[in-house]
Amino acid sequence: MADLDYKKISGGLFVSFEGIDYCGKSTQVRLLSSTLLREGYGVVVVREPGGTEISEKIRDILLDTANKRLSAEAELLLYEASRAQLTRELIIPGKQAGKVVLSDRYFDSSTAYQGYGRGLDIESIKKMNLVASAGIKPDVTFLFDLPAETAQARFSSVPLFKDRLEEEKIDFHRRVRNGFLEIAKSEPKRFKIIPAEDDIDSISERICSEIQTLL
Ligand SMILES: Nc1ncnc2c1ncn2[C@@H]1O[C@H](COP(=O)(O)OP(=O)(O)OP(=O)(O)O)[C@@H](O)[C@H]1O
Ligand SMILES: [Mg+2]
Repeated sequence: MADLDYKKISGGLFVSFEGIDYCGKSTQVRLLSSTLLREGYGVVVVREPGGTEISEKIRDILLDTANKRLSAEAELLLYEASRAQLTRELIIPGKQAGKVVLSDRYFDSSTAYQGYGRGLDIESIKKMNLVASAGIKPDVTFLFDLPAETAQARFSSVPLFKDRLEEEKIDFHRRVRNGFLEIAKSEPKRFKIIPAEDDIDSISERICSEIQTLL
């Protein structure tokens, strides 16, 4: 899809965090948001799926282990619906107010999971991403790159309730990882690839310094 379909909105900064489950996204969102708040920036933190009252209801459907019959197409549309609401309710207003908007996953997750992971048509997903995002792309996307096996080892060490997606097989997560890398290759300016096996503090320092150059 031509980049012309996407538009810039002035003010603020929109940052997304991407990568397979357990790569460390939420950890780094938390660390960056507290650093930015300490430095006096206005910060909006959101997550996908979810982030608004309506989008969180959609999240419950998506993650419910009872919904094993959810079709890949219905799943994609639910993610896009959650995103459409989140974008209009929080992301665009936050950015227009000059805030730093941190999104724990955004539309690259749909391309990677539903496209590369489940095999739905990638060009169709990109069109849906454009609609859901109202043509607003993240200014920068951090991709936490981690072998699926390492992510699974982290996951197995935390005896938490497993959601519907975490129960997917290792092959699925390998395809998703490779998908993210392909997407990043196609947009090298927007993506910063972070080796997610590095320690938490050094990743955090790198992210903070990348963000400082953009503020
Ligand atoms: N760089 C790191 N090295 C080792 N362990 C890490 C690192 N970053 C995060 N972790 C640990 O890995 C686990 C998953 O981290 P986190 O919840 O941040 O991942 P996530 O990408 O948000 O996962 P999910 O997609 O499931 O929400 C946590 O137990 C966290 O403490
Ligand atoms: Mg998380």
